[in-house]
Amino acid sequence: MRTVLLGPPGAGKGTHAVDLSREFGIPHISTGDIFREEMKAETELGKLARSYIDGGNLVPDDVTIDIVRGRLKKDDAADGFILDGFPRTIPQAEKLDALLAETGLAIDAAIYLFAPEDVIIQRLSGRRVCKKCAAVFHVVNIPPEKPGVCDRCGGELYRREDDAPEAIRQRMRQYESKTAGLIDYYDAVGRLVRVDAGIAREDTYRLLKRVLADLR
Ligand code: AP5
Repeated sequence: MRTVLLGPPGAGKGTHAVDLSREFGIPHISTGDIFREEMKAETELGKLARSYIDGGNLVPDDVTIDIVRGRLKKDDAADGFILDGFPRTIPQAEKLDALLAETGLAIDAAIYLFAPEDVIIQRLSGRRVCKKCAAVFHVVNIPPEKPGVCDRCGGELYRREDDAPEAIRQRMRQYESKTAGLIDYYDAVGRLVRVDAGIAREDTYRLLKRVLADLR
């Protein structure tokens, strides 16, 4: 079950990928999460990533592809994975296809989570993330039991730098100019599955579970 979650910032890729990963027993690989871990640890990669991410720009393809290449070689990805936030450009998608083809494999489905722009902006503006375990909440839609505190581990919740209004606008521009073309890319090879992500979280999740169950 080798899947890619596509969609604009704030569509809910990370939220649903965590649940699907647990339910289907395959790893959730998020390039955004990997970069944020590196940024937290203040590594050289983290500093480089921050110089792009905080302003809402994409990290260069060669850097991102190297990370994914290394991650897909790990044992836990042998039987499948959910890629979240990768690929994000056509060159990344071509490279992913080439990497998998080396071992006779291919992407089974690219699941496109679509939602209206006003919904997306509302979600990003209210998103809060745990500093410790990276769990994702929303101040209105999916609030923690105690404001500012993670339900899962008690860590402090914060607003991502790239969820500031100007960075959100830039991310939307980057999505339109560099990422949205992937919808046609996967559609052309019959791998695209469209899922409505503008509805209640449980309803989208039910649709996603059906897609993955069918693949299995
Ligand atoms: P990344 O972390 O991948 O950011 P993104 O794609 O912009 O996606 P988001 O994390 O913003 O949104 P999401 O779809 O996961 O939504 P979420 O589930 O949190 O990447 C960050 C940056 O890293 C990029 O901008 C780029 O710079 C860099 N990067 C990463 N990958 C790269 C790559 N391949 N190449 C180059 N650069 C790369 O949900 C959003 C909010 O809505 C949450 O608060 C959630 O609680 C709420 N919510 C979700 N679903 C629902 C629902 N159904 N109803 C109500 N609320 C909901």
